[in-house]
Amino acid sequence: MSNKRHSHAQWSSRLIFILAAVGSAVGLGNIWKFPYMTGESGGGAFVLVYLVCIALIGLPILMSEWLLGRIGQKNPISTMDQIAGRLKRSRGWMAIGVAGIAGAWLILSFYSVIGGWALSYIRYAASGTFSGMNSDQVSTLFNDLLASPGVLLAWHSLFMVLVIAVVAAGVTSGLERAAKFLMPALAGLLLIMVGYAATTGSFGEGLAWLFQPDFSRITGEVVLAAMGHAFFTLSLGMGVMMAYGSYLGDDVHLGRTAVTVAVLDTVIALAAGMAIFPVVLANGLDPAAGPGLIFQSLPLAFGNMAGGLFFSVLFFVLLVFAAWTSAMSLLEPIVEWLEEKTPLSRLQAALAAGISAWLLGIAALLSFNAWSGVTIFGRDIFNTLDYLTANIMLPLTGLATIIFVGWVMGRDEVRAQLNLSGGSWKLWRFAARYIAPPAVAIVFIFGVLG
Ligand code: PFF
Ligand code: NA
Repeated sequence: MSNKRHSHAQWSSRLIFILAAVGSAVGLGNIWKFPYMTGESGGGAFVLVYLVCIALIGLPILMSEWLLGRIGQKNPISTMDQIAGRLKRSRGWMAIGVAGIAGAWLILSFYSVIGGWALSYIRYAASGTFSGMNSDQVSTLFNDLLASPGVLLAWHSLFMVLVIAVVAAGVTSGLERAAKFLMPALAGLLLIMVGYAATTGSFGEGLAWLFQPDFSRITGEVVLAAMGHAFFTLSLGMGVMMAYGSYLGDDVHLGRTAVTVAVLDTVIALAAGMAIFPVVLANGLDPAAGPGLIFQSLPLAFGNMAGGLFFSVLFFVLLVFAAWTSAMSLLEPIVEWLEEKTPLSRLQAALAAGISAWLLGIAALLSFNAWSGVTIFGRDIFNTLDYLTANIMLPLTGLATIIFVGWVMGRDEVRAQLNLSGGSWKLWRFAARYIAPPAVAIVFIFGVLG
């Protein structure tokens, strides 16, 4: 990447960039959150809306964040400030960067708690705990974990230490390179799990649950949840993809790369759903069990399949790895910003941001036990953090981003960045101006009003 305009290191190739972006996108959102949200929101209807949101809203916003980052070459706040300033627009557009960084920090707090659950399940898996378990036993195992604040804290802390260590050392690209082997391994393992799901006798039922929309289940709330999840799963609206774009060379085609990332992310989520729902239905588990869904269904599969011990250890290791690369990407923009804007060193910045998010995470983990009665507008702390970020902050930040790129920036500059041919450019432009912004606004308003 040989462009003098660039002020800092560039990705050594398009591949490394894709790995980093996929590393951020593919995580707990795909394997933990997508299935449980699908289960809570009525299956196929949610999946359908989610897929539409990825294509019509997620893709244009992903491309927008990358192009902004590539033009700005700085942390998300400075990038927005600088581009708006050059266009003689309000510096208020900087709020996109501020809200994004704040959102990333909030998400990191509870993301690390769930990363801790996954870590603790490596241990159960390795000691053969799942072997021969029935559905009551797996539920008890999970509920006992949730009921133990000290244990949750230990795993949450370990997960956060792993994240801070990598970001502080600035070796994130090393981890991303590992994604080249580990992501395909995760995908392969999910396929094996789908294969097991096919033997449960409820495979058809599971697929129907995922892919046959029951349109009566589509409410404003479900559509908002699906849209929010589209943002969450593609790491949008958080300054994360913008920050990654700032390391991106001019020779990378944003559209093709965005499609690659979105397709991989979606395939992994759907595979997770196909591996989980047949097991859920075959064992009489409740699809609407909430955040514990994969931790209660997959151990049943592992406990009853050939090679389950090996596969279960491998699965939770890979899940932790996927969560780790995503969590790093949540910490990176804050650290980039603190490093550029304050006298803090990279290590100090990573510690400050990571430890503060860890503290907030403690409140989130207590909401599963000691503080379960503490609610804000009827939601416990964990759900408040989730709702506030996925359903409010990400859509609003994403909306502002797409309005900025679609309506505020000059078309020539955007077109040069995207490098799209005539037809695709017209399509993109139309989506960025007339589809995504009103769609996000309408969904947001109806969703929040309930
Ligand atoms: N996209 C990640 C996932 O699906 O698990 C979560 C995430 C990472 C969200 C980074 C936001 C982000 F900035
Ligand atoms: Na994702």
